Amino acid sequence: MASCPPQTAGARRFWAALVAGLCWPALAYGQTLDALGWDSMSKEIRTKTNATEAVVTFSVTNLSQARVEIRTIQASCGCTVAKMPAQPWILEPGRQGVVEARTDLRGKSGILNKYLAVDSSAGYQVLHFKIDIPETAAADPKLDGRERNRVAALADRQAVFRGDCARCHAMPAQAQEGEGLYREVCAICHEAPKRASMVPDLCGIKGLRNRSYWQKWITRGKVGSLMPAFGRAEGGPLSPEQITSLEDYLLQRFAPPGLPTPSSPKR
Ligand code: HEC
Ligand code: HEC
Repeated sequence: MASCPPQTAGARRFWAALVAGLCWPALAYGQTLDALGWDSMSKEIRTKTNATEAVVTFSVTNLSQARVEIRTIQASCGCTVAKMPAQPWILEPGRQGVVEARTDLRGKSGILNKYLAVDSSAGYQVLHFKIDIPETAAADPKLDGRERNRVAALADRQAVFRGDCARCHAMPAQAQEGEGLYREVCAICHEAPKRASMVPDLCGIKGLRNRSYWQKWITRGKVGSLMPAFGRAEGGPLSPEQITSLEDYLLQRFAPPGLPTPSSPKR
């Protein structure tokens, strides 16, 4: 008789039963989390540029001998909604199902980390997913130069005074004042024939246009628009003297019709 018979199916079952028996206390204790087996507990996705929504799915299998009730799946933020097939969701032994998480990406960029808290009769588990949103418009080669500039300015209206933008939008201001200054730094936007629709025609503005109106617009511009702040306090390129010289010029140039102006305007 051979001392070491090859393992028979029966022997394998015996060892399997023994191992299972040894593990059983651990399984029973606290209804081990291994009852729910996920395809992955941490996922990573990369979205398309300008995607407004990311969808991540997690597939789960009930690996245990008992039915598992998944009560809730909660997302770590309001922008993510997790959907499960039913609520509560009963998974019989061996059965499989899919959880779908949708994240609203509007206004988001960079890397987002999201979590789903799964509360079930088998315990509490946390799923993680990472969303990589590629650099949007600013680096999108499909956008032409102008649109790219506009997107850069929408993200930061003071961008026009930095880097390569300064070549056309700030440097020409040097040593200029009055009308010359207006032509270099204001008319470039406000009187450009091809300007974007959000750049108003300064001749068309209604209401009071006194010195403080001009001063306010020049020094502070408008947050949330493409109109930059030219004052030094906000990183603009103009000295207080240059701003005063602009105000003088603009008060004449854009004087409301019918009102006398301090001196003859050059039209
Ligand atoms: C070569 C000169 C030049 C450079 C460099 C330049 N711009 Fe402009 N920019 C212009 C001109 C000219 C206009 C007027 C609209 C037109 O004709 O395209 C303008 C208009 C704009 C406008 C008004 C919106 C529009 O499209 O009419 C914004 C905002 C702007 N530029 C931002 C920027 C930013 C930000 C940069 C740097 C990333 C930049 N610009 C670099 C010349 C330039
Ligand atoms: C980069 C382009 C750009 C440049 C350069 C620029 N502006 Fe503007 N400006 C705008 C835009 C866009 C608005 C509209 C802001 C808004 O959404 O109300 C605006 C608005 C204004 C308004 C308000 C008009 C109203 O509706 O009452 C004034 C005044 C003005 N600009 C003056 C100036 C002066 C003066 C300069 C030069 C010192 C200048 N702007 C340079 C883009 C520009």
